[in-house]
Amino acid sequence: MKVAIIGASGKLGQYMVRHCLAKGYEVHGVCRPKSVGKLDEFKDKITIFPGFTSDRDVIRSAVQDCDAVLTVLVPWGVNNYASKTAQAVLDFSKDKARLIFSCGWHISRDGKDVYDWKLRLLVPVVSAIAKAFRLIDVNDQVLATNKIFASDKKWTVVRGSDLEEGDSEGLPVWSEHVGDPILASNRTRRIDFALFMVEAITNDQLIQKAPAIVSCKSESAIATKNRAL
Ligand SMILES: NC(=O)c1ccc[n+]([C@@H]2O[C@H](COP(=O)([O-])OP(=O)(O)OC[C@H]3O[C@@H](n4cnc5c(N)ncnc54)[C@H](OP(=O)(O)O)[C@@H]3O)[C@@H](O)[C@H]2O)c1
Repeated sequence: MKVAIIGASGKLGQYMVRHCLAKGYEVHGVCRPKSVGKLDEFKDKITIFPGFTSDRDVIRSAVQDCDAVLTVLVPWGVNNYASKTAQAVLDFSKDKARLIFSCGWHISRDGKDVYDWKLRLLVPVVSAIAKAFRLIDVNDQVLATNKIFASDKKWTVVRGSDLEEGDSEGLPVWSEHVGDPILASNRTRRIDFALFMVEAITNDQLIQKAPAIVSCKSESAIATKNRAL
């Protein structure tokens, strides 16, 4: 299995590199030239493609012969970084490749997610401030995922809850919609978000789905499991 990781040098990316290598996968990693050093510990084990993830030539080289592509979707700046990244991955990946993208709960595929007041208030306020300072354009992440949802490729959009660091708690559980009781705890270890992304490569039930995830050890996940017993 040959896997490209787009955004390999970030926190989520490095966890995904580790999980992929542990499975014996061959890894292509794309990261900004200034961040190549962050991947030093893997430099003899993976092939690095330095470049911005929105650079179509870099993405083409990295993904064209891969069986799967794991993309960290981040809406940096105000020049359509996330949507250009998603478009390049969709355009240059093999037709049969599994394409897994990361984002947060704020992305909704069908408008049926139910958000609590904090998310309803925070997303527009933080988005407006971040855009005013030309730091982040959350609408571009929405544009990126809309492109993915419209594609007939074998994609999965993994929607992460609030993230925390720490040892693995195991493969997160998921649900179709934010607001479902199983997700109420709203916490996942970042290492396990990465695990879910990597496991999705071989889980055909997740093709063309947008799972919202939560730690399998969270209170809401355990309560839901106990109710089902
Ligand atoms: N943070 C959260 O609480 C949270 C919650 C839910 C979902 N998520 C999702 O999880 C994924 C990873 O997010 P994360 O917060 O954990 O961050 P992360 O894994 O550290 O990833 C950030 C990525 O953005 C790149 N980057 C940083 N500054 C940049 C810039 N100015 N221009 C271009 N690229 C830049 C980083 O590359 P370098 O290594 O080159 O800096 C890295 O690849 C995202 O899809 C996010 O939507 C995050």
